[in-house]
Amino acid sequence: MTEIRTERFLMRPPVIDDAAAIADIISDRRIYENVASIEPSQGMEKTGRWILNAERGAQLGTDHVFLVVEEGVVIATAAAHRRATSEPFEIGYWVAPAHWGRGVATEAARALVTWLEARGQAAKLVSGHFKDNPASGRVLEKLGFIVTHEAPVYCVGRGCDVDHIFMVRKAGTE
Ligand SMILES: CC(C)(COP(=O)(O)OP(=O)(O)OC[C@H]1O[C@@H](n2cnc3c(N)ncnc32)[C@H](O)[C@@H]1OP(=O)(O)O)[C@@H](O)C(=O)NCCC(=O)NCCS
Repeated sequence: MTEIRTERFLMRPPVIDDAAAIADIISDRRIYENVASIEPSQGMEKTGRWILNAERGAQLGTDHVFLVVEEGVVIATAAAHRRATSEPFEIGYWVAPAHWGRGVATEAARALVTWLEARGQAAKLVSGHFKDNPASGRVLEKLGFIVTHEAPVYCVGRGCDVDHIFMVRKAGTE
């Protein structure tokens, strides 16, 4: 199993036994209202499918999904996804609200970017955040992402379009 070790955390791919812990964290509106595609009531079944998709995506080279584990407890995720291997990876993450403000997202996303760089898969990375979620923009800024443009993106968790800031990172810009 692919693992990343950071100063404080173990990052490892999700397995089906993680579904309950993940579903519990993402049922918090502070998570699903700030990402594009998590349903407000996403339960175990859909979370299980997400885990299986992550496994399939890893085999296809389109997904690298990591859970961030501290002392055996899942506290966050950091993931890279692309629709096709010809496209740049999009970086995404969430942190369980009880752990916000501890630098978890920055440490995990930075480790993921470094891991992608070592694999030669980070020449160009894309990401972004809803305009009313500046903390995520700050995380991306710290990793060397810059703003490219703004446009509305549908947020499943809110059930409406939300102003979104798109960002890009070119290699060596942290
Ligand atoms: C956004 C999120 C990932 C941040 O996680 P975190 O572990 O608390 O982030 P970090 O502690 O690594 O860094 C947060 C940074 O944002 C800053 N910040 C926090 N609130 C902020 C605000 N309202 N405005 C501007 N910056 C803010 C912090 O000061 C910190 O920057 P600093 O290190 O320069 O002081 C977390 O809040 C989260 O999971 N939110 C819901 C899901 C989500 O938004 N995912 C990203 C989708 S784009």
